[in-house]
Amino acid sequence: LHIIQSIQELRMRLCPLRQAGKQIAIVPTMGYLHEGHLSLCRAARAENDIVVVTIFVNPTQFGPKEDFDRYPRDEKRDAELLERENVDIVFIPPVSDIYPQSHSTAITPPAQSQGWCGASRPGHFQGVCTVVSILFNLVQPDRGYFGEKDAQQLAVIRQMALDLHYPIEIIGCPIVREKDGLAMSSRNVYLSPEERRQSLILSKTLKQGLEKARSGCLNVSDIIKDGEKIIQSITGVQLDYLGIVDQNTFMTPERVSIGDVYLGAILVGKTRLIDNMKFRV
Ligand code: PAF
Repeated sequence: LHIIQSIQELRMRLCPLRQAGKQIAIVPTMGYLHEGHLSLCRAARAENDIVVVTIFVNPTQFGPKEDFDRYPRDEKRDAELLERENVDIVFIPPVSDIYPQSHSTAITPPAQSQGWCGASRPGHFQGVCTVVSILFNLVQPDRGYFGEKDAQQLAVIRQMALDLHYPIEIIGCPIVREKDGLAMSSRNVYLSPEERRQSLILSKTLKQGLEKARSGCLNVSDIIKDGEKIIQSITGVQLDYLGIVDQNTFMTPERVSIGDVYLGAILVGKTRLIDNMKFRV
């Protein structure tokens, strides 16, 4: 595992590999890695010659009142985990190299960024698109790996890659869950034991929605009304949103079809959690 911090060194390492025709993967992360991230690394490892993981807690995707300063960081542990996954390069640039003083360009995110997390976190997807596009330019990968837990982010990045003609295949990897159903997230460390128990209501609600559809109720607003009732009945949990969307356009249909995504966001104490499940039958 090569730990690289400078853009210049990253370019020096990657240039000959690219010229030799090696297939390069990027796995963009904000670090504090968990099994979800490692599953992305494994998928990337299986399908490419060179795997580059980036660790960058991107300030531009956090709102002024969000958790940028306290976002968990442990680069030493991250590097050990990546070493075990046979990752070739981990790129950990300083903020001032990605965003020098003079930086002022940003990417306007595509239509999929409207609503849901885009509504609750103004500017978030602009920050994500800008940093992902910078990282794509620096690494010039053949494939990019993203978790399906951030379903809206995945749809946004897919559209951005298409619109900006990036010659990069965007690959979504399934959500990895704890045994009790909680979707893995670096933010789960914020939860107290009580909040950790309360957090399960989100995956349970989504699962019930899927079961309701399986039993024949395909009406989107009925499924969501049920879900809202369940979440609002839990004290200590605040509902941000529940929604059902087409996985590519992120528009809401009237009736559920296969491939649509049931997504939700809740606040448990001060911690914002998101999750989603796909209707499959
Ligand atoms: O999903 C994340 O961890 C981040 O949003 C990403 C894609 C690494 C961009 O900062």
